[in-house]
Parts: sequence; structure tokens; C-alpha cells
Amino acid sequence: MDLSTTIAGVRFPSCFMNAAGARCVTGDELDALGRSRSAAIVTKSMTLAPRDGNPEPRYYGFPAGSINSMGLPNLGYLAYARIIPELRKFGKPIIASVAGFSEEDFVIIAKVINESRPDLIEVNLSCPNIPGEPQIGYDPDVSARLLKRVRNVVSVPMGVKLPPYFDPAHQERMAQVLEGVGVQFLSLINSVGNGLVVNPDEERVAIKPKGGFGGLGGPLIKPVALANVRAFWKLFGGRLPIIGVGGVVNGTDAFEHFLCGASAVQVGTALVEEGLGVFERLENELAMLLARKGYASPLACRGNLKEL
Ligand code: SIN
Repeated sequence: MDLSTTIAGVRFPSCFMNAAGARCVTGDELDALGRSRSAAIVTKSMTLAPRDGNPEPRYYGFPAGSINSMGLPNLGYLAYARIIPELRKFGKPIIASVAGFSEEDFVIIAKVINESRPDLIEVNLSCPNIPGEPQIGYDPDVSARLLKRVRNVVSVPMGVKLPPYFDPAHQERMAQVLEGVGVQFLSLINSVGNGLVVNPDEERVAIKPKGGFGGLGGPLIKPVALANVRAFWKLFGGRLPIIGVGGVVNGTDAFEHFLCGASAVQVGTALVEEGLGVFERLENELAMLLARKGYASPLACRGNLKEL
């Protein structure tokens, strides 16, 4: 079964890769992704200065999913600018995830990272975990200004990682913004921000930062992820490639993302919980499912979701 896919003209050997943030902070973790069956190496979202991130515990996994408030721990963009060329040896696409605390940060980072020649740049407008910092993707005007400026300094394909939207009007407004700024792919969605997980035995929150509030991931967010993939697929008439992110734990979850319009999927919580072997398992499960259903590839079913 050919599980390869193409995003913004870049060919990926399969359709499963890590989500930014999952096992991709250090050089060793990025090397391990290079050696694994992940179809790409996606870096942790990088900031100007190296960051330790928020205080621990800052990740908690439970049967229905996960909550995290990592706080963008990363090596700083200059370290990733040095590491990215070394990752070339793995012969798979490299996606650099760019974050920041101001418009200027994004522009500086994107310009330098672009020169290290990742295959794609994913602009993260959706981290929910920095105390006092709103999620940029919820402000269409700020997003438009920022993306225009980043677009001007980036020559590799540029995509955007968006937060989940819960209202069609917000999706439509963001689609208008994206139309105008030359975005070439979307990663949908980041964690569902500002959730709260409670430990009733201990009568306390599950994670320390922000009084226990953090981004939800894993199976419990799959319907929200699918809804956003589907909504943006329709808004762009299938013209803009979408990487589905959210709740991919087995081959069927990935199939659902493809039906909604995704061209590839990223794996976060399941990668953190299961380790790098998750990619081979997902490939096998999806291949078996597609074969049983008579599809020759994931792209053959892309967007085919039937409505009643
Ligand atoms: C984090 O580092 O807090 C998560 C990053 C993100 O959700 O974008």
C-alpha cells in the first residue's frame, strides 16, 4: 500500500509524522525521529531565546487523552538553525515550527530558519500555554499582519498551525485571512486550550502551570479536530493541503481525518505515550483498513466524507 503523500509540493514517504512538541525538542530526539518511521521530522516550536518551559508537572496523560502546559521548552532558534542541516541525512522532509512572543520574533526566527532550508515552515499561531500571552490565531487582524510579514522572509512552503475554532464565523474569517497571505498548508488543530483536568482523589489539578489549565490532546479532541479539518477543507474547496492533528491513536482515526480532507496526519499524545513504534503500527493499521475498503492510497479517500 502506498501511504506516501504530498504537501505543498513536498513528497512525504508516508502520511504519519510527529506533531510539533511531541518528542522533538533536543537534537537527540530529532535524530531519533529521523531514524524512526515518522514521515517527517517536525521540530518543537522555537522561540528567540532557549526556554526551560513551565514548571513540572506540566504533562498528564489519562485514558481519554492528555493535558499539557509545556510552555514552549526549546533550544532557541539559533540551535535549530544549526541542527536542521544535519537532519538532512535522514532523507525525509523537515518541518520547522516557528513561534514567538511578538511579530518581530516570528520574522527574525523565520528569516534565519528559512536559510537553514527546512522543507516547510509551520508558523505556530496557537500555543495556549504561555501565561499572559493570548493565542494569536484567535485574533484575525494580528494573524494577518504577522503572516504577511513572515511570508515576505520565507521562500520554502509556509503553513500555519491554528487553534481549534468552535464557530463557523471564526473559521470563515480566518480562511479570508489565510487567502490573502500566501499560506500553502494548514495544520489543524493545536491542543484545545485552557482545559482543566481534576484529580478527585487528591482534590487537586493534574498539572502545575496556570493553576492547572492547559491544552487538551488525544482521543477526546478528535471530533473537534475533524470538524476543523472538514470546515477548512470546504472553505478552501480542497485547494489547500491540510495536516490533521488531534486524536490519532489508530489507523481508523487517521482514515477519518483523510475522509474529512486531511492529506497527512500528525501524532502527539499517542507518540508521547507509546513512543516511536507508534508510526509503524499506524501505517499497518491504515494500510489494512484502506485495502479492506478498496482504496489504493490515503489520498484516494481524501475529502470523501458523505453527508446525510
Ligand atoms: C507548549 O509548549 O506549551 C505547547 C506548544 C503548543 O501547544 O503550541
